[in-house]
Amino acid sequence: MSTPETVTVPSPIPEPAEGRTAHHRRYLMCRPEHFTVSYKINPWMEPAKPTDTAKAVAQWQMLHDLYLELGHEVELIDPLEGFPDMVYTANGGFVIDGRAYVPKFRFVERAGEAPAFADWFRAGGFDTVEPEEVNEGEGDFLLVGDTILAGTGFRSTGDSHREVGEVFGREVVSLNLIDPRFYHLDTAISVLDPVEGAANGGPERANIAYLPGAFDDASRAILEERFPDAILVADADGAVFGLNSASDGYNVIISPRATGFEKQLRERGYNPITVDLSELLLGGGGIKCCTLELRAARDSEVDA
Ligand code: ARG
Repeated sequence: MSTPETVTVPSPIPEPAEGRTAHHRRYLMCRPEHFTVSYKINPWMEPAKPTDTAKAVAQWQMLHDLYLELGHEVELIDPLEGFPDMVYTANGGFVIDGRAYVPKFRFVERAGEAPAFADWFRAGGFDTVEPEEVNEGEGDFLLVGDTILAGTGFRSTGDSHREVGEVFGREVVSLNLIDPRFYHLDTAISVLDPVEGAANGGPERANIAYLPGAFDDASRAILEERFPDAILVADADGAVFGLNSASDGYNVIISPRATGFEKQLRERGYNPITVDLSELLLGGGGIKCCTLELRAARDSEVDA
């Protein structure tokens, strides 16, 4: 028996509590028309297990439609046959201030996606920067305030952390991932607040939620020092890809299985909304993996 698709959008979406503001977002997504699991490059993938492409598309559509309902913009890149992981657009680049840093995939199975993303950025008028170093885009690079948190250990290399810092002229904080289930940084950290919350006169500094067990001791110490108010997510919520979420500063889209995290978010004044991407989890990806943020050049940035 297949489980019913669940998306719980409280209707109407409640107004942000004091101190939280929903910010307009522009995202890049890719409809999983060719989704399947035909190779194994992370522990979640089991090529022998059947996948249901129609179900993947239906679940993805719920996320897509929810973004629109929340007032965000969604751009689409055409899915390429033979690249079942292209749905995970977070790995398609890292975009700040209208500049797009192109990925260089760790595994040959995904290498052919990079030129497609680069072409899409060029056609869209982004200042497109080709990489020298192995990096998997927003899967491993997260912008928090003015700082780039950068993950390494499984996919993006330490050299790509230097390169991304040069490309964007921003501070980069390197973090070591140690658990193969959480092989991209966006599976272990969720950025909750909009860019430059405090710098924009917002109520507080940009905050994050994270899964402590995904990091080595040194990286955990850095996170504790930099984010004393972070939400520490329990292993049970991390293990169901609870951190792989998308936030606009108020609405936080999360897996329905991450019930503890949902409660923590609510306590902090966020509005968690659950979307079930169970089929896409068979490829080792979730909500954030299917979402790449397109940050415009500063002067054209408009908040909702
Ligand atoms: N199967 C894909 C891979 O292993 C999943 C990518 C998930 N993306 C992410 N941003 N975490 O590369």
